[in-house]
Amino acid sequence: MRIGVLTGGGDAPGLNAAIRAVVLRASMLGHQIFGIADGWAGLLDEAAPRILIPRDVAAILGEGGTILGTSRTDPRKDEATRRAVLEGIRRFRLDALVAIGGNDTLGVAQWVHDQGVRVVGVPKTVDNDLAETDFCIGFDTAVTVVADALDRLRTTASAHHRVVVVEAMGRDTGWVAAFGGLAGGADLIVVPEIAVTSDDVIRTVTRRRAMRDLDILVVVSEAAEIAGMEAQTAVDRDAFGHVRLDQRAIGAVLARHIEQHTGIEARQVVLGHLQRGGSPTAVDRLRATRFGNAAADLVHAGRTGVLPVQRGGRIEVATLADAVRETRRLSDDIIELVERFAGVLD
Ligand code: F6P
Repeated sequence: MRIGVLTGGGDAPGLNAAIRAVVLRASMLGHQIFGIADGWAGLLDEAAPRILIPRDVAAILGEGGTILGTSRTDPRKDEATRRAVLEGIRRFRLDALVAIGGNDTLGVAQWVHDQGVRVVGVPKTVDNDLAETDFCIGFDTAVTVVADALDRLRTTASAHHRVVVVEAMGRDTGWVAAFGGLAGGADLIVVPEIAVTSDDVIRTVTRRRAMRDLDILVVVSEAAEIAGMEAQTAVDRDAFGHVRLDQRAIGAVLARHIEQHTGIEARQVVLGHLQRGGSPTAVDRLRATRFGNAAADLVHAGRTGVLPVQRGGRIEVATLADAVRETRRLSDDIIELVERFAGVLD
């Protein structure tokens, strides 16, 4: 088979490890692999995808980013583009596609599959909010970045007796903020899944200071809403219609709010794309290798409209339709852990 592979949506550490695994395993099985540039945009392009052989991917396991490039392109946006993307698949004589991405990219993959194309997905998003899988590629690295940042910020917050507010990524959910905050020992974690008011935050910070906590680290998810505290209005949207959450500047707003209402000096740090950059952790490399290997096996076996997922340590298979049906919010056990170890105080 001629199998196209693409990476779509926001990049995440471990994409190259997944591409490598797809190329190595599919080559072992006797297939030809074609690397499609810049996500779904590459199928709308004149330029043909490039052949990828094992030698091309030999040294990319630990590299961040994606050798294929990525974009937020929704080819379903109008009739002409819908026709063009299917025409691209025919023109490049691709028998099957492996689409590595999150909710948006795999939503397109599901649609392309519905049009009669053989497609297998691979779950990737630092947000970790794809349904059907416990973990996605990129999440572990993002969490590690947050935890490392908290270790560093603890010392400077302590030296100055300050509050430091750290803004973490997460479009609709608090996975990165919760895991990163717990791993880095944050004093307060604010996520969309746990309702918190401005009074709760001020009371918690004030009480902690009264308990002689000289350094207070707060992790806030970029999508969190805090009742009684207005974030800035996000103006722009991406190609899939998602608001630009960085424009809400929730971390800056929260730090200012805390300083004004408690009198304690506060600073803020937006971790932003640091969470998506650089080398993947060993966990992400291994996860990507398992997913990429399984995706190639699924294409070979003729099982499409599906993706490999991780459940309780095992690699299993789910349908694309189920994976993109809803956004997976924080599980109850993690919510409980956040409330116990980094929740608001009474
Ligand atoms: O979906 C992944 C993600 O990193 C979100 O956490 C974040 O809101 C968004 O992408 C940022 O997108 P961009 O890289 O386009 O600014």
